[in-house]
Amino acid sequence: MVTKSGIGLTAHDDQFREDPQPIYDGLRGESPAFRDADYGSLFLTRYDDARKVLRSKDYGVDARKSLPDSYMRRVAGTGVSEGRGKTAYEPPLVLLDDPGHRRIRALMSKAFNPHSIEQMRGRIESITAEMLDRLAPGSEIDFIGDFAGPLPTRVIAEMMGIPAVHCADLKRWSDDILRGYDPERDEAAQERLRAAYIAMSALFRHAVDERRRTGGTDLICAMVRAQEMDDRLTDLEIISLCTQLLVAGNVTTTDLLGNGLHALMAHPRQLARLCAQPALIERAVEEILRYDCPLTETARIAYAEDRGGSCPVHRGATLTVSLAAANHDPALCAEPHRFDIEREDVPHLAFGSGIHVCLGAPLARLEGCVAILAFVQRFPGVRLGSTPPRRRHLPFFRGFESLPVRI
Ligand code: HEM
Repeated sequence: MVTKSGIGLTAHDDQFREDPQPIYDGLRGESPAFRDADYGSLFLTRYDDARKVLRSKDYGVDARKSLPDSYMRRVAGTGVSEGRGKTAYEPPLVLLDDPGHRRIRALMSKAFNPHSIEQMRGRIESITAEMLDRLAPGSEIDFIGDFAGPLPTRVIAEMMGIPAVHCADLKRWSDDILRGYDPERDEAAQERLRAAYIAMSALFRHAVDERRRTGGTDLICAMVRAQEMDDRLTDLEIISLCTQLLVAGNVTTTDLLGNGLHALMAHPRQLARLCAQPALIERAVEEILRYDCPLTETARIAYAEDRGGSCPVHRGATLTVSLAAANHDPALCAEPHRFDIEREDVPHLAFGSGIHVCLGAPLARLEGCVAILAFVQRFPGVRLGSTPPRRRHLPFFRGFESLPVRI
């Protein structure tokens, strides 16, 4: 891909997609707030800058406050209108500023919290075991298509009380919606994105209507019941939140598992150590998140002029905060390019920081620990298969489209 700057900071660029870290290192050293002419944004690679921007009130996520034709506007344009009818839509939490964000997040946290997630542990273990039982030892499988892809949809659908027969549709729709994060999507992708929103909303609308009539104990019922002072979530808000949980939680968790197994296979001694010492799994998952993080970037809009950092920032400018670069900054940890599952307490930014810090982090961590450990314990000799892994050509979401392995 030929770019105006000569540096293609996108998964559409072959070099960047396959090995972005040398490019991040170059930028961090020479131009830590790099003006990316191709996407009209300032690309941040230092840990301290990234953390500061994510935690500062001077930066927000409301695309309407960004400059026209900015990267943020192109990414945020879903083609689904706010308002009434079939295409009614509430902006997702990640695109809401306070006070709207604070209100929805507080209500949502009543339903979706570490306690409700820990209660899922037993079910995640059984779903994982059931999926592993279908894999024949000695065969070659696609780790993504046969295991890491379907698993998170099964888990979240079950939390929501959505029958497993809908999982294939939910996965397909959430993959289509994900394409909406590609600023270079074509019209066909835009149309699939719109259709997927409408179909997914219809399924959740039906579920919300049913829970209002019959009650129950699943996550959608908890959202229906969630109350803060005199405030409640509206039906449209619940439907939109369900869509977000599916889209935000699906591919990211798939990529945690895929990037994790890939890193472990590339470091066989660490894979063996993990099998011998299963108690290392929590640290291993943190290291996987830091080393090859599933969500590589997020964006913010400057609400004020900022002349204090490495480069002046003008009001309305879009900043791309590279979580993947920040997580490999030597200011965060020693030898950041070394994969080491025994590192302790590294405050990486794989789940972001500040008010938008990932709501699903406890669930992602739990799924990561259960699924990765169960897989490597069942197949300790796992190794790359006969065809090479293929990384996905999609900005922001770093992972594999297919990861053939012999088990
Ligand atoms: C390894 C898996 C995951 C990673 C790496 C990840 C990463 C992130 C990051 C970096 C953010 C902050 C974005 C920003 O500041 O702009 C975020 C937000 C969010 N994530 Fe995750 N996520 C993961 C899994 C999940 C899961 C399983 C769910 C739910 C089922 C989820 C739901 C959300 C939601 C709702 C937000 C928006 C929070 C807000 O704006 O207040 N995520 N995630």
